[in-house]
Amino acid sequence: MGLEYLIYQSCALIPDSKAAHDRILQVSRVYNTANNVTGFLHREGDFFIQYLEGSHANLALTMAKIAADPRHNRIVELDCGPLPDRRLPDWQMGFVDNTQMSLHDLLEAGPNRLELKAEDPFDLVVFMTANAHNLREDATRAA
Ligand SMILES: Cc1cc2nc3c(=O)[nH]c(=O)nc-3n(C[C@H](O)[C@H](O)[C@H](O)COP(=O)(O)O)c2cc1C
Repeated sequence: MGLEYLIYQSCALIPDSKAAHDRILQVSRVYNTANNVTGFLHREGDFFIQYLEGSHANLALTMAKIAADPRHNRIVELDCGPLPDRRLPDWQMGFVDNTQMSLHDLLEAGPNRLELKAEDPFDLVVFMTANAHNLREDATRAA
């Protein structure tokens, strides 16, 4: 089945804390492994941005659960499309906060949502996945 990706933003309704994010990630990694979904979650102030990749059916299933989750709201899909190969094949769900990576230069925070400054939402996908790779390399070097 063909691969697809999607990226969305949402307003976080939980504290910007490791414990709160760990609870999301633990469950996400179990489900994403089972559903063959990979991706990356970023917390930027009051917002989440998540990049997901997988089959159309598995992305739809995962997004339906994510959209119903009361830990965030105001979900706005920023971009989606077909994908020849996974960009993050071994990320069952990566996470970084804005101390490790900031999208400030690409995004402007409004009262209810982030505004993408770049014209092409795909810039955000490239930026996030490139950062994910850099972080993984840094962690490997430090180990
Ligand atoms: C910001 C955010 C990102 C999430 N990302 C994922 C994800 O990538 N995969 C996933 O299965 N669940 C993710 N979840 C959790 C789901 O919303 C849901 O709680 C989880 O899949 C458990 O579903 P269940 O109650 O049907 O067992 C995320 C939740 C939030 C708030």
